[in-house]
Amino acid sequence: MTARRKLIAGNWKMNGLKADGLDLASDLAGRLKGAGAVAFDMLVCPPFPLLFPVHEAIADSPLALGAQDCHAETSGAHTGDVSPVMLKDAGCRFVILGHSERRADHGETDAEIAAKAVAAHKEGLVAIICVGETEAQRDAGQANAVVSTQLKGSIPKGATAANTVIAYEPVWAIGTGKTATPDDVKAMHAHIRAELDGKVTEPGAVRILYGGSVKPSNAAELMAVDNVDGALVGGASLKADDFWAIGVSCR
Ligand code: PGA
Repeated sequence: MTARRKLIAGNWKMNGLKADGLDLASDLAGRLKGAGAVAFDMLVCPPFPLLFPVHEAIADSPLALGAQDCHAETSGAHTGDVSPVMLKDAGCRFVILGHSERRADHGETDAEIAAKAVAAHKEGLVAIICVGETEAQRDAGQANAVVSTQLKGSIPKGATAANTVIAYEPVWAIGTGKTATPDDVKAMHAHIRAELDGKVTEPGAVRILYGGSVKPSNAAELMAVDNVDGALVGGASLKADDFWAIGVSCR
């Protein structure tokens, strides 16, 4: 059994101005520094304008920085987009790709997500590739098939356990307060683990995160499920106490 260190990732989405973003990140960085040895890696993914200042505020701590999206090109005529090399320049080590809100709001396809992941890998960024079914798809018994298709289409050639993290986020659990049951999470994460075979080097070492209404009250139970190697957290990542409590729930 490969030991996989848990990753607790905060997806701030379109939340946070400079003052509160800096407060939140500095608070978490201070807790991590003061805590000594912990059983998890911690990551914050603020909106683009906050990447540089947050990086400066947390640079001397183990708190990692990531972005919420990137373009597949390095530079050029792509108004409003941000490239992986820019993210690296801003101090990022991670980038979330293919979040269901981007798939829904921007029509991102698996092929586009794979192209972004290739570009991120080229700059040495870890791609957190998001997958997950809608409620209608789950009700129709299609959850496994939907996730298989997303994995097949969005994991690029060259993906390894070091440069790729998978986040399973059932769309119906995001921001709704509903969470998948530990049994459903266990079944889906085992399915994803099996599907990684042949798509990623060292599939047994890839971290598979669960996301969707993770909060302090359900984190310990979810983080104890087989093949759950951390959490991608939205709402609860905006409060230092809650996000920290999710981290320390990891054993
Ligand atoms: P949530 O969001 O924790 O607010 O449900 C999770 C996510 O979308 O990454």
